[in-house]
Amino acid sequence: MTLSAAARISAPVYPLVVEAASMRIGDEQRCDVAAREALLDDAFGASRFEKTCELLRVARLPARHLALVAKDKGAVVGTLRFWHVNAGGVDALLLGPLAVAHSHRSCGLGGALMRTGLARAAALGHKAVILVGDEAYYTRFGFSRANAARLDLPGWYEPSRFLALELASASLARAQGMVVATGRLDEAALSRAA
Ligand SMILES: CC(C)(COP(=O)(O)OP(=O)(O)OC[C@H]1O[C@@H](n2cnc3c(N)ncnc32)[C@H](O)[C@@H]1OP(=O)(O)O)[C@@H](O)C(=O)NCCC(=O)NCCS
Repeated sequence: MTLSAAARISAPVYPLVVEAASMRIGDEQRCDVAAREALLDDAFGASRFEKTCELLRVARLPARHLALVAKDKGAVVGTLRFWHVNAGGVDALLLGPLAVAHSHRSCGLGGALMRTGLARAAALGHKAVILVGDEAYYTRFGFSRANAARLDLPGWYEPSRFLALELASASLARAQGMVVATGRLDEAALSRAA
C-alpha cells in the first residue's frame, strides 16, 4: 500500500478526508475509541499516561474536527488528535499522540495523517501547533525547535523534542512562557473519575 501517490484530499475545509484503496482518514467516531486506545497502548505502552503532554490532555476534549483516525477496511490503524492550549500567551494546538499500527508503518500513513490534520487545522483558522516528539520525524512537516524556544511545559521534557509550527506567519513571534490547557472539559471523563 502506498498512500502518498494515491491519496486524495477531498475538500479544502472539513470534512477533509483522504482515501486511497481501502484506506480512509476521517473523523474519529465514538465507536473508534476502544480501538484507538488499544493502538496507543501498543505504540507507547502504559507509560504514555506519564508524559508531560498528558497533563495538557487529561479530562479535556480534543479540538473540534481534529480527532482523526485512519481506517483500513473499517479497522482503526492510525490516530492523531489535536488539543487546545495557550502557548505563552498565544492560542495554539497541541498535536498528539500520533500513532500508526505496526502492520501499516512506513507506507506514508503517518505522513498522510499529519498533512490531513495540519491542513484541516489551518482551514479551521488555527495559527500554531506545538508538540513533543522526534525532531527527525517532525521537521519534514515544518516543525522546529526554534519556534518553541521561548515556551515551557508544565513538567519534565527533553528540550530537543519540544517543537512548534507556525500555520500563520509569525504567529508565535510573541509567544513566551508556559503552555496551559484551554480545551473544553470532558464532563463524561470527569464524572467517571469521580
Ligand atoms: C511515527 C509513526 C507515527 C510514523 O508512522 P508511519 O506511517 O510509519 O510514517 P510514514 O510512513 O509517513 O513515514 C515513515 C518514515 O518516517 C520515519 N520515521 C518513523 N518514525 C520516526 C522517528 N521517530 N524519527 C525519525 N524518523 C521516523 C521512518 O523511518 C520512515 O522513513 P522513510 O520514509 O525514509 O523510510 C509510527 O512509526 C508510530 O506510530 N510510531 C510509534 C508512536 C510514535 O513514536 N509516535 C510519534 C511520537 S508522538
